[in-house]
Amino acid sequence: MNRTLYGNLIFELSKKGRKGYSLPQDYDRTHTTAELPEALRRKEAARLPECDELTVVRHYTNLSHNNFGVNDGFYPLGSCTMKYNPVINEEIAGLKAFAGLHPLQPAVTCQGALEVYYNLQESLAELAGLSEFTLNPCAGAHGELTGLMVIRAYHESRGDVRTKVLIPDSAHGTNPASAAVCGLEVVEVKSLADGTVDVEHLRQLLSEMGSEVAAMMMTNPNTLGIFEPRVLEITKMIHEAGGLMYYDGANLNALLGECRPGDMGFDVMHINLHKTFSTPHGGGGPGSGPVGVRKGLEQFLPMPRVVEAPTDSCTGESYVVDWGKSFEGKRGEELSVGNFFGNFGVMLKAYAYILSLGREHIKEVGPLATLNANYIKERLRDSYLLPIKGLCKHEVVFDGLVDKSTGVTTMDVAKRLLDYGYHAPTIYFPLLFHESLMIEPTENESKETIDAFIDVMHKIAEEAKTDPELVKTAPHNTPIGRVDDVLAAKQPVTTYWKTIAES
Ligand SMILES: Cc1ncc(COP(=O)(O)O)c(C=O)c1O
Repeated sequence: MNRTLYGNLIFELSKKGRKGYSLPQDYDRTHTTAELPEALRRKEAARLPECDELTVVRHYTNLSHNNFGVNDGFYPLGSCTMKYNPVINEEIAGLKAFAGLHPLQPAVTCQGALEVYYNLQESLAELAGLSEFTLNPCAGAHGELTGLMVIRAYHESRGDVRTKVLIPDSAHGTNPASAAVCGLEVVEVKSLADGTVDVEHLRQLLSEMGSEVAAMMMTNPNTLGIFEPRVLEITKMIHEAGGLMYYDGANLNALLGECRPGDMGFDVMHINLHKTFSTPHGGGGPGSGPVGVRKGLEQFLPMPRVVEAPTDSCTGESYVVDWGKSFEGKRGEELSVGNFFGNFGVMLKAYAYILSLGREHIKEVGPLATLNANYIKERLRDSYLLPIKGLCKHEVVFDGLVDKSTGVTTMDVAKRLLDYGYHAPTIYFPLLFHESLMIEPTENESKETIDAFIDVMHKIAEEAKTDPELVKTAPHNTPIGRVDDVLAAKQPVTTYWKTIAES
């Protein structure tokens, strides 16, 4: 990276009057502003940086080199899985025939896209053991909210007022947040020391408030990477109380092809396509959180959906858009494979991933993800504290270093990993332990990559003993050293001009 010049802020590179574009001399600006109401027009020019093209290109290219992605190196981020996206999937998603679709294009002109959409709905339903899916939600949390709204609509349709959602204390933060946004009251279910649901506590809660329970949300394997061994008993208890079971399918990669949420008794679920089906998670999207329901709940799914229809002998049309009652008369025959239908690009990648693995190889995803995580667990447990000893699924959680006498924390280990060219694992989540260090290798990584990572983790544990200051002040080899995370989170400075004015 050329830090001397291009490492500056783009505003610092600005030179008054410098331009990176040229417009024809007779370019008429008036028509671009004429339609804006006077009150909305700027009184003075925006204070944008003024740079020549090369400066802009080099500045942003250099900035991009500061980034670290799953294509740069091992990215063992637990929970927010950075799954490798095969290049072919990206190419398929970028095909002009898909990427160039207009959101309001008539259905008859994009039957291929609709077929993919429909087939993905069907494939997910089969993989999940459920009846029907909507692909509309754009993230896991968006799927949770959608699923809870489905549950609320189901109870309302029966004239049954239920306001409470049971959520284990190990749940991902989006679970209680989605329930609250849906207007439901969150009731926490305790975990046992081994990280699984405390079924006796659940029993007690159901005896106190069973008739008010709309649903229980469960992640299985949970956020500690542990499979809930009493899941069948739990789903039975909730159903007997008249509630529904919601499955947070963000960790589905651990079970893929091995067992299905529908068979475990779940009624509604979402899947994070951007974790299990080849799109890397994180960076603010784009994501996709399809929601599936068991038989009998289909009518509560949101519209629009793509449905198969008898082939039209004139147009050849076989897939149509069911806009549902709420859209009746508004959209007619118009179609959107754009935003009205969620993130289609992510769906294309998921579909390509499912097809390329096929029925026989998709079964290997769960066992391989599990094998990789357990291999790391067993090889690191001499240096890193393992609070839950049993078999984990796709991810493993340590509670910092075994030797706490050096004062080296999980944060320090994570920062030191950056010096060795690795992205940090998830830290300080789940909240059940003080020094959580959550590693998820995914099924994609080779043994060599995982071994090299393990060696570095051992090396850092050794450094913590021999030279703790080195670890505590890491990173040393990155463009920016240790930052004050708390200050950055609590008082972010996002306006360059403000910074200048204050300095
Ligand atoms: C267990 C679990 N549930 C829900 C979510 C929320 O997904 P999203 O970040 O797409 O909203 C995540 C995210 O990583 C997760 O790990």
